[in-house]
Amino acid sequence: TKRVAIFISGGGSNMLKLLESMQGDHPARPCVVLSNQPEAGGLERAAARGVPTEVVRHQPFGDDREGFEHAVMGVLVPYAPDIICLAGFMRKLTAGFVDRWQGRMLNIHPSLLPKYKGLHTHRRALAAGDRAHGCTVHEVTAALDDGPILGQARVPVEPGDTEASLAARVLAQEHRLYPMVLERFAQGDRRPILLP
Ligand code: GAR
Repeated sequence: TKRVAIFISGGGSNMLKLLESMQGDHPARPCVVLSNQPEAGGLERAAARGVPTEVVRHQPFGDDREGFEHAVMGVLVPYAPDIICLAGFMRKLTAGFVDRWQGRMLNIHPSLLPKYKGLHTHRRALAAGDRAHGCTVHEVTAALDDGPILGQARVPVEPGDTEASLAARVLAQEHRLYPMVLERFAQGDRRPILLP
């Protein structure tokens, strides 16, 4: 059974879907949920499900990303994770950290990569007049929101959509896609999943 660490910064709705999926004959189990934000709502939701939680604040480290990541490693290693799932984790990771977890770290991003790396993806898709939008799960490499694509889910952009309505439509697909990709990834299957 693979051990999965989930990194969050916020509400953790994707994290919750991953936790719910890792039951029964699933090839993985959660070992820890780690947040860089002490007030992340997802921490309570994970604890309520009996999953250990940890907080490593980035703020005291200022620009010292490696110092922050060293602290993260110190907290993480005792849980012996095989896989890290980034789920709304809003810190860029250095090449050094990414390299240590190369091939074992996944991220979900709210766009159809390679479009709209970075922030404000829904706003940018609306501004561009895109008819389709969606989300991507990919392996994390040193470049931001890059790396081999493991799954994508597509949604239509509807007339009258706002950033919020579009984000909600995409998030519902994130909740389907990420558990599907993790289950296959934990079995060593990296063939991309395309939804719907
Ligand atoms: C999700 O939409 C995720 O794709 C996005 O943040 C949200 C987190 O929601 N991630 C990024 O923007 C990464 N740069 P959640 O905390 O409810 O899962």
